[in-house]
Amino acid sequence: MKILITGSNGLLGQKLVYKLKVNKTVSLIATARGENRLIDATGYIYESLDITNFENVESVFEKYKPDVIINTAAMTNVDACETQKEEAWLMNATSVEHQVKVLESLKNNSYNPHFIHLSTDFIFDGTHGPLTEEEKPNPLSYYAETKLEAEKIVIACKLKWAIARTVLVYGIVDNMSRSNIVLWVKQNLEQGKLLMLLMINSAHQL
Ligand SMILES: NC(=O)c1ccc[n+]([C@@H]2O[C@H](COP(=O)([O-])OP(=O)(O)OC[C@H]3O[C@@H](n4cnc5c(N)ncnc54)[C@H](OP(=O)(O)O)[C@@H]3O)[C@@H](O)[C@H]2O)c1
Repeated sequence: MKILITGSNGLLGQKLVYKLKVNKTVSLIATARGENRLIDATGYIYESLDITNFENVESVFEKYKPDVIINTAAMTNVDACETQKEEAWLMNATSVEHQVKVLESLKNNSYNPHFIHLSTDFIFDGTHGPLTEEEKPNPLSYYAETKLEAEKIVIACKLKWAIARTVLVYGIVDNMSRSNIVLWVKQNLEQGKLLMLLMINSAHQL
């Protein structure tokens, strides 16, 4: 099975590459903007892919015809999405449209790709939980609005698809471009700072 990951330099992307590259039944294509930032570049193919560029998506998807695409790439800085709305929409919604459109055009009797898209619990307002898949979304930030739009694009597509809504991804990866909640807490505690963590909804938010 050929699996292509977008955003392979990111937190989730890197974890998926390291997990999948050791699976002998998987032929793995890791893709991200610019250079590969993973220390171990063995056991998979790396291609530079900017998913906001339609032609770039077209050429890489056509070249590999992956059976499964795991779309982890996104503009994930919630504050930056608020101030750079055009970029956020392009990155989180339009890029999904590009991928779906290319895959739909490649789909035929012998090629039927499965698009797996990463979304977020932020599409909900966090006022109650636990939540069902059918819960009505109520995005409170621009980041959440862009992610909800992406979900709508995926749900309406003519591909096999799945949406995974993750909650506060954390961990350590190679050449990290940004921190995460657990590292932030660790760093502050190491500096002797007193932290006030407010548990608004134990199923949902920190
Ligand atoms: N982190 C969380 O707590 C959390 C919570 C809920 C949902 N999610 C969702 O889970 C997914 C993965 O999140 P993550 O934590 O792994 O995020 P991340 O570490 O920020 O990784 C996202 C990756 O996307 C890449 N990217 C940005 N623009 C791109 C483009 N135009 N083309 C190709 N790649 C591009 C970034 O590249 P650069 O490194 O070069 O900037 C980054 O490596 C996202 O869809 C996010 O919305 C995350």
